[in-house]
Amino acid sequence: MAKVIRIHAPGGAEVLQLDDLETRQPAAGEVLLRQTAVGLNYIDVYHRIGLYPLPYPSGIGLEGAGVVEAVGEGVTRLKVGDRVAYGGGPVGAYAEYRTMPETYLVKLPDAISDVTAAAVMVQGLTAQFLVRRTFPITAEHTVLIHAAAGGVGVLLSQWAKHLGATVIGTVSSEEKAELARKNGCDHIIFYTHEDVAVKVRELTGGKGVHVVYDSVGKDTFQASLNSLRPLGMLVSFGQASGAIPPFDILQLSQKGSLFVTRPSMMDYVREPAEYHASADELLALLASGVLKVHVGQTYALQDVAKAHAALESRKTQGATVLLTTLPDDLDNLAFDGG
Ligand SMILES: NC(=O)c1ccc[n+]([C@@H]2O[C@H](COP(=O)([O-])OP(=O)(O)OC[C@H]3O[C@@H](n4cnc5c(N)ncnc54)[C@H](OP(=O)(O)O)[C@@H]3O)[C@@H](O)[C@H]2O)c1
Repeated sequence: MAKVIRIHAPGGAEVLQLDDLETRQPAAGEVLLRQTAVGLNYIDVYHRIGLYPLPYPSGIGLEGAGVVEAVGEGVTRLKVGDRVAYGGGPVGAYAEYRTMPETYLVKLPDAISDVTAAAVMVQGLTAQFLVRRTFPITAEHTVLIHAAAGGVGVLLSQWAKHLGATVIGTVSSEEKAELARKNGCDHIIFYTHEDVAVKVRELTGGKGVHVVYDSVGKDTFQASLNSLRPLGMLVSFGQASGAIPPFDILQLSQKGSLFVTRPSMMDYVREPAEYHASADELLALLASGVLKVHVGQTYALQDVAKAHAALESRKTQGATVLLTTLPDDLDNLAFDGG
């Protein structure tokens, strides 16, 4: 039997229910994992509230790390005892044990702890496609990153800085500003009480930024469009503040022939080869210290409702990890990263 968090209907954090379920032995092409750490992502909130509907009852969660306990027929890339992690794939990560396709699993080098891996797979793969493929950043670019002290935001800021860009980050508090600065932001805008577009013009000599990475959605969409220079791109990749209402496409021409895209990670890692190439790049940058995971908070798996409440009320910083067992019981649980 394994402890598994499931939802039986969409709703508030209280619908996250701890169930004891039989552990399924792996079929062909599958692996049974004992998970030590599970990553929390804002998309889990969208799943929980029904914005991205799930068939109920349903598991929840998209990333984790742990140890291979058993492998199904035909699995040759992995063996019992391997340390592995995954980000994306079938929902159901909030669990002590899970059986899942081998495809999504990457082997972890010794240098990367389970907690770091569970924290970074989804957020890091997201940062990878955003800065390398959706709008490939170079040293010529000035970029605006909303929620720069969040899980994705910290990694995006580090990666954009590593690529040489000038980075402007938005945050809601002085404490978050400090974290964003430490992680690559050259300039900070407090979007809760400053006019983002006006500040961006001040910081860029009136020109505006080349690209905005906007995961906040409703509250920032218009300011993001107003912060771009001609031919700039708005990358709208989330809606933590709510869905963006319909808008007049003519605005894009009026504001300088702008581009808007709404990417989803799953489309960028749909092919296993793309997924593994992205993960290899991410893990290499982590192992070499270019990227550092900031785990701002951890919770026991059974306290997941508290973790969701904190994420939704903007109380978290960096990544949030759920632990399936007490840290003392685990090898490889050292926190690395700043
Ligand atoms: N498209 C994709 O493939 C993809 C993949 C992964 C993640 N995402 C998106 O990326 C975003 C960040 O994900 P994450 O897991 O790293 O979360 P996160 O950034 O750690 O948490 C969300 C942050 O958004 C900010 N925020 C602004 N207004 C908010 C509001 N009304 N309610 C809640 N938060 C608000 C808060 O930072 P402040 O306190 O500084 O405002 C909050 O900490 C999410 O929108 C997620 O959906 C998209």
